[in-house]
Amino acid sequence: MKMFKILSTVFVFSLLFILAACGTSQTSGSTKSDAKKTLRVVTDAAYAPFEYQDKGEVVGFDIDFIKAVAKEAGYNVKVDNVGWDPLFVEIKGKTADIGLSAITINDERKQTYDFSTPYFLSKNEILVPKNSDIKNAQDLKGKTVAVQNGTTGQDAVEALLGKNSDKLKKFENNNLAIMELKSGGANAVVADNTVVEQYVKNNPQDNLKVIEDDTAFNKEFYGLMFAKGSTLKADFDKAITKVLDNGTYAKLYKQWFKVDPDIKILKEQK
Ligand code: ARG
Repeated sequence: MKMFKILSTVFVFSLLFILAACGTSQTSGSTKSDAKKTLRVVTDAAYAPFEYQDKGEVVGFDIDFIKAVAKEAGYNVKVDNVGWDPLFVEIKGKTADIGLSAITINDERKQTYDFSTPYFLSKNEILVPKNSDIKNAQDLKGKTVAVQNGTTGQDAVEALLGKNSDKLKKFENNNLAIMELKSGGANAVVADNTVVEQYVKNNPQDNLKVIEDDTAFNKEFYGLMFAKGSTLKADFDKAITKVLDNGTYAKLYKQWFKVDPDIKILKEQK
C-alpha cells in the first residue's frame, strides 16, 4: 500500500511536470518576438490617395500608414481589397482584424465598432463641373447628387436633401459616383476633401472644381476600425501615438500630400 502511494505520487508529479513544460512551450510560441502575427486588414481601394489600385497593387497613404503603425506594434499586415460595405461586415463578423479605408469615426459607427485614436483630419466637399451654378451646400437642394453608399458624404447630403430624397444617387464606390457626374447623371458629388481635390488636380481634362462649405460640413477624423472589444486597439493606439511623435507620420504625410500635418489637432481629439 505504501509503495503504491509513493508510486502514484511520483506519477502525479511527473504528469504535472510534463504539463508545465507543455504550458511553457506554448506561451513562448505565441510571443510576438518569435513569429509576428499577420493581421488581415480590409479596405475599399477606390479612394485615392488613401487606398487605390496601381498595377494590381493596393497602395496609398493609408497603406503606408498601417505598415508603419503595425511595424511599431509588432505585427505583420496583409491588406485585402474587399470593398466598402463588405469591409464593415467582415469587421463585425471578426473575419478580418482591422478596417482601413479613410473611415470617419462617428457616434453611429461607435455603437457597433471600436476605433483607434484619430490619424487624419478630413471634411466633406462638393465636386461639380467648372461651369456649375452650385456655389455652396444649400445650392444642392433640388439638384441630383451622387455619393458613395454608406459614407459620411451620404449623411451630409441627406441632411440637406432629406433622407429619402430621390435626388440622391448612391454608388458602391466613389469612382462610380464621379463617373455619374461626368456622364451628366448627377450635378455634384460629395466626398472627402483630399479625394475630390486630388481628382480635380489629376484630371484637368474633366473640367471639374471643388467647393468648400464649412457651415454645412464638419471636421471629421479617420480611425482604424476594430470589432467591439478587440484587444488590438490598445496596441495600435500606442503605436499611432508613437508614429505621430517620432516623425514617421509627418514624413509619410509630406510624401503623399506635400504639406505638413496638423498633429496637434489629432492629439487634442483624445
Ligand atoms: N470618410 C468617409 C466615411 O467614413 C468616406 C470613406 C470612404 N472610404 C473609401 N475607401 N471608400 O464615410
